[in-house]
Amino acid sequence: MNHQSSTSYYHILVTLIIILFISNLSTAFGSTKSKATISSNPVYKTYIQKACNTTRFPVLCCTTLYPFASRIKEDDVKLSKISLSLTLNATRSAYFSISNALKQSRLTHTEVAVVKDCVDNIKDAVYELRQSFHSIELLGGKDRDFQVSNIQTWVSAALTDEDTCIEGFNEQKVSPEVKNRIKMSVIKVARMTSNTLAFINSLTYSRSSNNEG
Ligand SMILES: *[C@@H]1O[C@H](CO)[C@@H](O)[C@H](O)[C@H]1NC(C)=O
Ligand SMILES: *[C@@H]1O[C@H](CO)[C@@H](O)[C@H](O)[C@H]1NC(C)=O
Repeated sequence: MNHQSSTSYYHILVTLIIILFISNLSTAFGSTKSKATISSNPVYKTYIQKACNTTRFPVLCCTTLYPFASRIKEDDVKLSKISLSLTLNATRSAYFSISNALKQSRLTHTEVAVVKDCVDNIKDAVYELRQSFHSIELLGGKDRDFQVSNIQTWVSAALTDEDTCIEGFNEQKVSPEVKNRIKMSVIKVARMTSNTLAFINSLTYSRSSNNEG
């Protein structure tokens, strides 16, 4: 019995791998295949590609935003909102994992100091990103430009705090293990924040570039 069920489990696993492989192939050659294999409208994907092309980390930008293509459509504000929401969520989970690292690992005094500073910085970044998310949800009306500049200020502040955390790891003696665990997650969050800021910056002159495309 046991052997048989593990054999059928194995078959299911192999089948899944094959399905995954095929679906990857059809994504790679998506443009020549039927539309049914493409999860979202290719026009929306192109919009994301173009927008991500203006950011500093276009590959990360595309991979994080493609799953939301059908929600973003070709809407600059939606793009900024979803990018900001994803950044806030990633920063929040980085905050929790760094806080846990502080409790669990056996760290040297220097490492404790560096990680504590980082926790404080990321906590501030979460607060600032949350403020900017609230603001972008209310975006509109006569003082729209003023609102956008406030959001820019909050997101820039978050980026500065994330960079300060990363610099702490560069300047102090920290074991590679601690470094890998924390620095990498904050670097990713900082890249997402940088990309989001590029989208928000483009909201200020979106009205004057309406005739594009
Ligand atoms: C991205 O930018 C590069 C160079 O700036 C350009 O060649 C490429 O066509 C752009 N891609 C998209 C999808 O806009
Ligand atoms: C971010 O997290 C919140 C709360 O967990 C969730 O409701 C929201 O959908 C997430 N944002 C995105 C873009 O997935």
